[in-house]
Amino acid sequence: MGGRDATMVLLDENGIRCDGRKVDEPRRIMIRAGGLKNADGSAYIEFGDNKILVGVFGPRDVHPKHMSDTDTGILRVRYHMEPFSVGERKNPAPSRREIEISKVIKEALEPAVMLDKFPRTAVDVFIEVLQADGGTRCAALTAASVALADAGIPMRDMVAAIAAGKVADTVILDVNNEEDQAGQADMPIGYMPSLKKITLLQLDGVLTPEEYKKCVDVGVKGCELVYELQKKALHDKYFGKGDE
Ligand code: CDP
Repeated sequence: MGGRDATMVLLDENGIRCDGRKVDEPRRIMIRAGGLKNADGSAYIEFGDNKILVGVFGPRDVHPKHMSDTDTGILRVRYHMEPFSVGERKNPAPSRREIEISKVIKEALEPAVMLDKFPRTAVDVFIEVLQADGGTRCAALTAASVALADAGIPMRDMVAAIAAGKVADTVILDVNNEEDQAGQADMPIGYMPSLKKITLLQLDGVLTPEEYKKCVDVGVKGCELVYELQKKALHDKYFGKGDE
């Protein structure tokens, strides 16, 4: 954040971004429901150059037993980045960043999942980032929601996620890695479109109150687009492709 690479043109005179997108244009998003036969539910997402696989297991017994809750089920989330997923090899040991992202994704999913229906059990969500290019927490959260639905876990809604941000004093949708590194702000948003509730909102960078509101607006609209693709992924798996 804060213009680390001063030579990079993040927005040209025609309003085109460094990867050729317009300011309100998301990257190419492809979501597939299912794919892992040993998981209860799974999903794979390509969000621009991010490639992420999610496996869901449960509801299942909690070990050790004292970790369980007699009143409700618990959600456990592990976000893990492969050492080869980034340009400079990532140390395979769990990083503080992975621990933080696991926590924010868990907290963003909790309002959507009806855990009270499964007291004493756990639902485990394993997220494997195969390739990262900025915005992995949003892509992972989006795929995790599809994987939970694929596992048949009762949910109030799915959480769709995308980041808004600011480059060259302009609000943009779907921040890529270069924009995250050299831009002015990055605001990941997770949103339940049917319930109209935000479950994740983080901000790295500085925004004016007007820009803040605009980022939330742009981000929520972006989440609505992502939501359509989540539903299509589930529809394609359970009702077949092209059967609209
Ligand atoms: O991925 P997300 O934007 O949710 O989280 P971030 O901490 O803002 O990371 C932004 C990007 O930095 C990641 O998506 C990766 O592309 C990159 N990164 C990296 O190159 N090496 C790391 N060890 C961690 C992140």
